[in-house]
Amino acid sequence: MTYKQQINTDKLPSHVAIIMDGNGRWAQQHGKERIYGHQHGVQAVHDVTEAAAELGLGYLTLYAFSTENWNRPQPEIDALMVLLVQTIENETPTLNKNNVRLLTIGNLERLPEQTKIRLQRCIDATSKNTGLSLVLAISYSARWEITKAMTDIAKMASYGGVKPEDIDEEFVARQLSTRNIPDPDLLIRTSGELRISNFLLWQIAYTELYFTDIYWPDFTKEEFYKAIVSYQHRQRRFGKTNEQQQQ
Ligand code: FPP
Repeated sequence: MTYKQQINTDKLPSHVAIIMDGNGRWAQQHGKERIYGHQHGVQAVHDVTEAAAELGLGYLTLYAFSTENWNRPQPEIDALMVLLVQTIENETPTLNKNNVRLLTIGNLERLPEQTKIRLQRCIDATSKNTGLSLVLAISYSARWEITKAMTDIAKMASYGGVKPEDIDEEFVARQLSTRNIPDPDLLIRTSGELRISNFLLWQIAYTELYFTDIYWPDFTKEEFYKAIVSYQHRQRRFGKTNEQQQQ
């Protein structure tokens, strides 16, 4: 039986987040430059997005460029920016055809001006779609996001717009870039690294984690289905006992 056939369509995660890792090592394995790995990673982005839309998932979040990635060699940063925006532009008609809405999280202020403008055009072009939301984390890190939320709250407090007793978990969550997006049910990381690397730290409090040794360019639809099947075999208790959870 394929992994796709093993999926229980009544128990789908509504939000899957992915740390797409291993493009560089994949390129090295093939005796090529790092950017060759990123270029091949685009096919996996396409396939996994299509799989998520076909399954009827609500949200797919992809870690496309982290705050820390700004420290990579400038030619790699430039190539990644070009690849990102070109891919998104090329895919926009397909996103529209499949009713996929494009969203971004992250500090887009740091992007080159033209990249920002072109990205915004694609976001606007898909904004009316009601199927899968494809959330691209670009220039994103969880610590940046939490720090920004704290400075925003401090500003509101200094204007007298918010009091300490107003601040609860929901209030904090509304100040994050993921406001209106449910927390991920499943987080996948490829390439064998067992860490979170500053991704969605607030939001993954109760997320199921799935790690695979496969490098991102080799991650296929079937690998994605395999992760979902693994998720469906987990027992999620959210801090409660087994018995409470079954009630
Ligand atoms: C991690 O591999 C991957 C990235 C930093 C970039 C991911 C970008 C893409 C797949 C390009 C297009 C994306 C979209 C959403 C259109 P790495 O370079 O850290 O690999 P390594 O750990 O093996 O060096």
